[in-house]
Amino acid sequence: MSLATIRTLTLLQPERIVFGSGCALECAAEIQRLGLRRVLLVTNPPIVPLAQPLVDRLRTEGATVTIVTDVPAEPGVAAFAARLADADALDLDAVIGFGGGSVLDIAKLLAAYHRTGWKVREHFGIGLLPGRSLKLFCLPTTAGTGSEVSPNAILLDEAEQLKKGVVSPWLLADGAFVDPALTLTVPPGLTAATGIDALTHCIEAYANKFAHPIVDLYALEGVRLIGAHIARAVADGRDLEARSAVALGSLYGGLCLGPVNTAAVHALAYPLGGEFHIPHGLSNALLLPHVLRFNLPAAPERYAAIARALGVPAGGSDAATAARGIDRLAQLCAKCGLPAGLRAAGIPADALPRLAVAAMKVTRLLKNNPRDLTAADAEAIYRAAW
Ligand SMILES: [Fe+2]
Repeated sequence: MSLATIRTLTLLQPERIVFGSGCALECAAEIQRLGLRRVLLVTNPPIVPLAQPLVDRLRTEGATVTIVTDVPAEPGVAAFAARLADADALDLDAVIGFGGGSVLDIAKLLAAYHRTGWKVREHFGIGLLPGRSLKLFCLPTTAGTGSEVSPNAILLDEAEQLKKGVVSPWLLADGAFVDPALTLTVPPGLTAATGIDALTHCIEAYANKFAHPIVDLYALEGVRLIGAHIARAVADGRDLEARSAVALGSLYGGLCLGPVNTAAVHALAYPLGGEFHIPHGLSNALLLPHVLRFNLPAAPERYAAIARALGVPAGGSDAATAARGIDRLAQLCAKCGLPAGLRAAGIPADALPRLAVAAMKVTRLLKNNPRDLTAADAEAIYRAAW
């Protein structure tokens, strides 16, 4: 890749990115600094206690805080519309998303759509959202989707049983506060699935048709951090060192999502969520090694670099190093306790052809994949992963 002829890339990031154990409370200081008084905090029942110190601080400083706690896992268009109708009844200045990827995505969309009358279905795709109504702050409690720094929000389109994305600079938060201490109580299975999701963001941004040296920096360092620490974070959730490394890797993965984004692993993962409601992180983990084995011949030097970032010793050709890296990834998923196949995850064999048809609709991600993929290729990958 010649820098003289490299394609132009624009990095758009939240105006303020704060990282560090205990930094969640700084969100209250920022909201006060900006003079925002009426705040909607979107979260989930199990993490309300984690949000309480921030809520207390905001109220002490004179803000009115309304708490929404009923965001479903993997929310759809109807669930969002219901939360928006409730939010539209409130006078608001700002929205805080405090939770995992679904909570953050709903918070981002609520901030954008508040009292606009717009319909989210009209904005699925890239760059179609016309604006945002409210200030927006994101605090991830998993590591993670990277949604706190990405311009994406994903919803299930119930009519098509497919996950769809609104992708727009208007969905970039005014502030992202990544506090690894918030992730200390995430249970092992969720730690594993969300960590592998974050690792997948980094891998798919690095081995991508639109890879770019600016993003490569985040991507490779994210692979290194998560690869070296995810098993530790799963084995001992209280290990703040491991949690912090995975949270930082997840942040880096999120920074890859806007400018380059993901590819076929995510494209094939979405139908597993759409039809079978398999959580996003687990869907990616189930497919990761199999998509990468398919992709390897198209970008052996890229996958070899990923393998080295995972700690695989170089040796032989790039293709050989890359293949050992993919084996290492499969071992890592197993070590983290993730199921090894689609069958173990409850997917029937007769679903594979229609999953392949659904995956081929995710063109916004398939176009990024280093190797072109047909419906027959997708079905073969699902079979290998079954
Ligand atoms: Fe993801």
